[in-house]
Amino acid sequence: MANSEDGKKILFICLGNICRSPTAEAVLNHVLKERNMTNWDVDSAAIGSWHVGLGPDSRAVSVMKRHNIPMKHKARQLTKADFVHYDYIFGMDHDNISDIKARAPKTYTARIELFGSYDLKKELIIRDPYYDDDDAGFEKCYEQCLRCSNGFLDSLK
Ligand code: 4NP
Repeated sequence: MANSEDGKKILFICLGNICRSPTAEAVLNHVLKERNMTNWDVDSAAIGSWHVGLGPDSRAVSVMKRHNIPMKHKARQLTKADFVHYDYIFGMDHDNISDIKARAPKTYTARIELFGSYDLKKELIIRDPYYDDDDAGFEKCYEQCLRCSNGFLDSLK
């Protein structure tokens, strides 16, 4: 079982940093708390600049409220410094991974992976629910993030 000395630095990336990646950040923090793993550094950021400084989409906020998971984040963009600060940079879909790699400095240390690669149900892609008419896609995003958070932490044991 990992203990608090094993804390890692994790950055979640999605296109706008208002739906999927702040949900992943909140869910991983919640699972870490449940597991008494306290000294992790978890954040999220965007590929695009459209929503910088704004809080998460109201549908993401209500899904997190429904599950009693705190979510506090202001959107920011991915920076070059992130590639050496973080141990893992997780993208939500293949476009995110291409965009992350395209912004990487010449040398960097972070591992760039699809968060969905840790899903025990093998759903590789966390689909963008931003343009949906309701919050069903946000609920699904939460469920995927929960499975991936547990799958990722279990993979470190
Ligand atoms: P996210 O969703 O990448 O999961 O935060 C999106 C949010 C905003 C936009 C696209 C996706 N947008 O085009 O503004």
